[in-house]
Amino acid sequence: MPFPETFLTELTERSDIVDVVSGYVRLTKRSGANLFGLCPFHSEKTPSFSVSPDKQIYHCFGCGKGGGVINFIMEIENLSFPEAVEFLAKRAGMTLPEETEDRESRRRSRMFALNKDAARFFYEQLSTPAGAAAKDYMKRRRIGPATAKNFGLGFAPGTWDSLVRAMRAKGYSDQELFDAGLVRRGKSGGFYDTFRNRLMFPVIDVRGNVIGFSGRILGDGEPKYMNSPETLVFNKSRNLFALNLAKKSKSGYIILAEGNIDVVSMHQAGFDSAVASLGTSLTPEQARLLSRYTNEVILAYDNDGAGKKAAQRAIGILEKLDLKVRVLAMSGAKDPDEYIQAKGAAAFRNLLEGSEDQVDYRLRQVLDKYDLSQDAQKVAFLKEATRLVARLPGAAEREVYAMRVASLAGVAADVVKAEVARLHKQNVRRAQTEAERQQSRPGHLAEAPGRIRYEDEASGKAEEGVLRVLLLDSALASDPSLPPAEDFTVPALRHIYTEVLARLRSGGEISPATLGGVLSAEEMSLLVALQDTPLTAANSERALKDYIHKIYECKELRQKPSSPEELLELQRKLRERKGY
Ligand code: GTP
Ligand code: MN
Repeated sequence: MPFPETFLTELTERSDIVDVVSGYVRLTKRSGANLFGLCPFHSEKTPSFSVSPDKQIYHCFGCGKGGGVINFIMEIENLSFPEAVEFLAKRAGMTLPEETEDRESRRRSRMFALNKDAARFFYEQLSTPAGAAAKDYMKRRRIGPATAKNFGLGFAPGTWDSLVRAMRAKGYSDQELFDAGLVRRGKSGGFYDTFRNRLMFPVIDVRGNVIGFSGRILGDGEPKYMNSPETLVFNKSRNLFALNLAKKSKSGYIILAEGNIDVVSMHQAGFDSAVASLGTSLTPEQARLLSRYTNEVILAYDNDGAGKKAAQRAIGILEKLDLKVRVLAMSGAKDPDEYIQAKGAAAFRNLLEGSEDQVDYRLRQVLDKYDLSQDAQKVAFLKEATRLVARLPGAAEREVYAMRVASLAGVAADVVKAEVARLHKQNVRRAQTEAERQQSRPGHLAEAPGRIRYEDEASGKAEEGVLRVLLLDSALASDPSLPPAEDFTVPALRHIYTEVLARLRSGGEISPATLGGVLSAEEMSLLVALQDTPLTAANSERALKDYIHKIYECKELRQKPSSPEELLELQRKLRERKGY
């Protein structure tokens, strides 16, 4: 029996891989995000078995085995997929669901349709007499009609049941409305609209599905915003407001703000790569999502205590993913919207261009913590600041910032430089130990130990490439130029490709949990290894085209019935490849 995706997701969320694996393997923390231990699946003396708390996967660089928490249990307890799910469910105190996957995917597509109809309803309300209040409010906030349309903004009327009635008329049941979070159940058992008298912002995922709503009160009042609850299709920590628009931007960076209004205002002023998290502070999942579309994030958080704290946290999360981070230093305005309204788009552009490098920003944050007129605090400042500087990768960078720190504290530059050098050396030594540990890590998959060689090496690598791009940017699953699965020459990759595509195209998610039931242990290991060889998605579409081209080229090369000339050419090529 296939398990519904939401159940598997919850199960894996409640079964932290570090906890589970720790029951079998002694894990130790090294520098870096991963934990290491001796692989339980092959015998070894130095640990090459790694567990990633962020990605919730394990991967052994020695024997190549890998997967999610469910695969781990299958492997170590020698259980089938359903048995492993049952095992973990018991451990997490969850009861097994009865729903089938099919029914769930039907429910999901119904919910998408309902949300879209609701968004259309809200949008249409803007042109009714009651909608005038929302139009007035937008005018006051200087949101123009074109912007409103671009975002699909709308108005939820103040009556208790206008949406309920409109959606019933379209054939949706009250239960469906309730499951989508659009209505609430009253004390008498009836249903009433969740969003009333609010400016409505549909939340749209990168594939263009309306997954939820955010509603702002017209003017002052509490609560300022109401957001859809978590539903089958809406997960606040895994989506970002306006990413559907920002992903198309040519700017090369993404601006991350706090407020929906800020985002709308920035887009209107021409900054079309602005997004916001959905009323929560940035989560690692959101950061990962961002990293699929950009390698540079500019933080445009509110200019207050909470905003600064949130920015600090966000920097930490984004940096882990090797994203370049800059921070906007807005002065004289509380948020990007106010700044743009007060000083104009050109001033905001200047701000973006001059936005502080995160080193400057963090140094200033450290500086703000201490009162340098007191010796004890000055020492504490120096200690924290040199540690920060010592972690910078470039020697020139370290030198420049060491001098800056020295001049800030009013001490001799040589002293700070020497301390930075000492700390840096210490860091390097630690990193080296880590590198030695990972030495066995394969350059590419076909060379990994214990893995079969690909018959058509070039095609196999391109097939890996296609999969890696898809895993990184699921929106590309709808690319019509994707080859049919038959064109994949490596059977394991072909199967993974088929399953991944089917899931992405029906709006599902790719996770070790949901694929564990359909992929074999070897295939799962291969998938994890693919996810573990990161690809920078500066231009994932381009990369995909190249890989697809390669696959076709290889296919032709294999099939050619060939004229004598072509045969000779082919022979020459083959010889070149073999090197004799
Ligand atoms: P204004 O500039 O005041 O119009 O609002 P804003 O859109 O810039 O939002 P603000 O900076 O006040 O808040 C940032 C985000 O936090 C909003 O986009 C919401 O997602 C969330 N948020 C704000 N207030 C509330 C609230 O009262 N309840 C909930 N659930 N979320 C809120
Ligand atoms: Mn704001």
